[in-house]
This record gives sequence, C-alpha cells and structure tokens, in this order.
Amino acid sequence: MLDLSTQKIQDESRQGEAYAPFANDENLYKKHFYIESYGCQMNFADSEIVASILQEQGFGATRNLEKADLIFINTCSIREKAEQTVRKRLTDFKKVKKANPGLLIGVLGCMAERLKAKFLEEEKLVDLVVGPDAYRSLPALIEEAETGQKAVNVLLSREETYADIAPVRLDSNGVSGFVSIMRGCNNMCSFCVVPFTRGRERSRDAASIVAECEALYQDGYREVVLLGQNVDSYHFLNEAADETITFARLLEKVALISPELRVRFSTSHPKDITDEVLYTMAKYENICKYIHLPVQSGNSRILQLMNRTYTREWYMAKVDRIREILPGCGISSDIITGFCTETEEEHQDTMRIMEYSRYDLSYMFFYSERPGTLAARRYTDDIPLETKKRRLAEVVALQGRLSRESNERDLGKTFQVLVEGPSKKNPLEWMGRSSQNKVIVFPKPDGLQKAQYVNVEVTDCTQATLIGKIRP
Ligand code: SAH
Ligand code: SF4
Ligand code: F3S
Repeated sequence: MLDLSTQKIQDESRQGEAYAPFANDENLYKKHFYIESYGCQMNFADSEIVASILQEQGFGATRNLEKADLIFINTCSIREKAEQTVRKRLTDFKKVKKANPGLLIGVLGCMAERLKAKFLEEEKLVDLVVGPDAYRSLPALIEEAETGQKAVNVLLSREETYADIAPVRLDSNGVSGFVSIMRGCNNMCSFCVVPFTRGRERSRDAASIVAECEALYQDGYREVVLLGQNVDSYHFLNEAADETITFARLLEKVALISPELRVRFSTSHPKDITDEVLYTMAKYENICKYIHLPVQSGNSRILQLMNRTYTREWYMAKVDRIREILPGCGISSDIITGFCTETEEEHQDTMRIMEYSRYDLSYMFFYSERPGTLAARRYTDDIPLETKKRRLAEVVALQGRLSRESNERDLGKTFQVLVEGPSKKNPLEWMGRSSQNKVIVFPKPDGLQKAQYVNVEVTDCTQATLIGKIRP
C-alpha cells in the first residue's frame, strides 16, 4: 500500500529520497566512497561536507557500489518510516560487503546519533557510526575501522559549523546550491527528535556563508538555498565590527552578491520570522518570494501540546502579515495528523487553517512517536493508526485542491523563471522555477542553457506543475 506519510515528498526538498553522487573524477583516485543520503536538505548538505573531508583523504566519489571501498549512509530519524527505510537499505549494503569483505560500511547522521553504539549491536556488519558533529574525525575513524575495530564518534558540539570546509557538490544541477547557515535546534517541539540528534543551535560565521555563496556564483550557480532548522533565529556576533548579524542582515548580504543570484531559505519557524525579514525580502527582487512556514496543526490546544509556542490566531496573523508586505508570496507548510489526543474537531481546525492560508504546497505526515522526545515521555500516542491515516488522506486531498487552485490563479500570468534543465518526463521540454518556487515546464527553444533566466507565460497547469511558453 502507498504510504501516505511519504507521498507528498517532492524533489524540491528531496526529503526521504536517496541519492548517490556523480563522480566525473573516478579515475583520479585509488580509493572510492559511495554515499547515500536521506532526510532533510541539511543532511544532503552534510553529505557534501563529508565528501570534502573524504576527498582530502584521497577518496573519490563513486556511484558504483561495487567500486566502493567505503559505503556511507547518511540517515534520518524524523519518523519511524525513515529509520525503516535506512535499515532496509543496509541489508542491501551488507550483501555487497559479503562479496567484498574489505569494504567498510559507515552510518552517519541522525540515526547514528540517536542509536549511538547500540547500532553496532543491532547491525553487526556496520563498521563506523558517526554523528552529525563528528565528521572531522572521519579520517581517524576510518583508519581505526581499517584495523578491524568498530569506530564510533557521536559527540555533539556547541561550536561545530564546518564553516571552513568547502563542500564538494554532489549530484548538483549546477544551478542551485545548498548552504548551511546554522546547525542544531533549540526549540523543543514535543514531537521532534531533531534537538536530540543535532544538538544545540549555533550560527555559522556570516563571512564564511557569504564567501561560499560568492564561490557558487562564480562557479555558475544562480541560486543559493540558505539552510537551518530555524533560520530566523540566526545570529552571529561579528566581534571585529561589534555588530550582531541577524537573519535579515545575512539575507541582505547574500542578496547583494549579485542581482543575478537568487536567494532562498528554509525553514522559518512562525514564531521567529520578523517584519524585518519580510521587508528585506520585499526590498530585493532576487530574494525569492516564497516562505516555508510549517503550521503542524491548526488547533491551539494541540499546538500547545506540541510546544510550538504560537496559537492558531497568531499563525493566521503571520500569514496576513506576509500577504500584506509581500503580495503574491508563495507559502507552504508541514502538517502532522493524529498527534496525541487530537479530536475530530481539532483535526477540522487544521483543515480550516489550510484553507485560510491557501498553501501552495504542504508536506504532510501522520504522527510517529519518537523515543526520548517530550511527547513520548509525557503523552500517550492514543490516536489509532487508521484514524491518523484517514486524517492524513483528508489533508492530502485538501492540499491537492489548494495546490490546483493556486496554480489556476497563475493562468495567463508571466513569471521570471530560472532554468534548471530538461524536465524529467519529456526531455524536449525544459523546467525551471518561479520566484514563488513553482515548477514551470515549457518547450525548449534552440540555444537555451540551464542557469539562464527566461520569462514564461502560464498557459495551462496540473495540480503539481505550471505549463507555459517562453515570451520574448
Ligand atoms: N525545523 C523544521 C522541521 C524539521 S522536521 C520546522 O520547525 O518546521 C520536518 C517536518 O517533519 C516537521 O515540520 C514535521 O511536520 C515533521 N515531523 C517531525 N517530527 C515528526 C513526527 N514525530 N511525526 C511525524 N512528523 C514529524
Ligand atoms: Fe524540530 Fe521544532 Fe526544531 Fe523544527 S523547530 S527541528 S520541528 S524541534
Ligand atoms: Fe531527519 Fe535529522 Fe534532518 S532527523 S529531518 S535528517 S535533522
């Protein structure tokens, strides 16, 4: 049966989707690593840090499992399903290891952090377990594992931001690049495992962020996506200038690199996004008019149990503010159905807030209890699975209608589109995104290259995609 918890996961966030790097330099290196990533964009960005550290050690990236001396799986713990997917994949890797006993298998990321050395008891053929703040120790850990010992480092750090490590771009489209601006999370949403797997929040040096964005621009990239669990609480003290750099200020600094470089960011916590950020977005055309503003639930009692620190009314006022300062701004959301004690009426509140917010897109999940979280300790996971799934099906259906209506409102309009390349379905058509993050496909004219800007008039649409033609 189709698992509804993953069906709306799209390539936009690549959440839950595995990828392996393309290496055009396979023959340059004697030893090779293969890495597959799961989870959020930050995990994918981390894999690029890992690739950089490994490359320094003389390992080249390969897409070919048989060619690998090292296999890494960068894991996610956000829902039980995410962990099951990883375990299933590990059984495939173990088969490869049986055929090639010298091969080392390493588990990285959030599941490594959550399970720590227990992982080695549960999965005997795993050789390395490395948490998200311990990637600098990979060379030493690999050496240790090569001697036949099991190697583990799951220490979390209060400072680590990998600021000085230039990521090796894996499987990138060469148009849009992820840039981590902070790590960890200090919010304690009661359902969420992230504060336990990623540790305390810390912001990366603003100068190193701007330098990384500039380097991407020089390499031909035309979009950067600034990443953090809660980007609006970014703050960095620039001691030399005695200046605290807020997220709004950072956005401005990145936007000023070039008007040709688009700036996106994710994720905004509704409690933290400020008017200053909204006005900065309004001021610079190249800051994309799109905000991912996860609501989680539309009911104030459930929001309180979730420890989200805002009410239904407060969230709605934030949506109003966005629409006021940034007319036409795209808004998307994350929604959890069937959280502990949620009633039918409270579920209806979620449906009503979706209608109110007119989300262009949502990522929707049924509640999955995570060991160790506040909710797991305090509340009973008392909504039957079939009820959670039925409520999820209802929000998925509603979002389908909202997405279609949102796309229909764009018919006849013309958008500036950053071209990403051929569309997956039809190579004669190309695709790109509007500032509002909507995918637009259009017939490719001769001479069009990726990373160019074109104006596209919307002539048709589906629920997921706008269809248009290039205008002169
Ligand atoms: N930092 C982001 C979210 C990161 S996790 C934020 O604050 O919005 C991505 C999404 O996974 C969350 O927004 C939430 O909708 C979902 N999620 C997190 N924990 C979950 C759980 N235990 N069960 C179901 N969905 C969950
Ligand atoms: Fe999890 Fe909440 Fe932090 Fe997002 S803000 S990562 S949902 S604890
Ligand atoms: Fe998953 Fe960790 Fe990201 S739990 S969603 S990979 S921060």
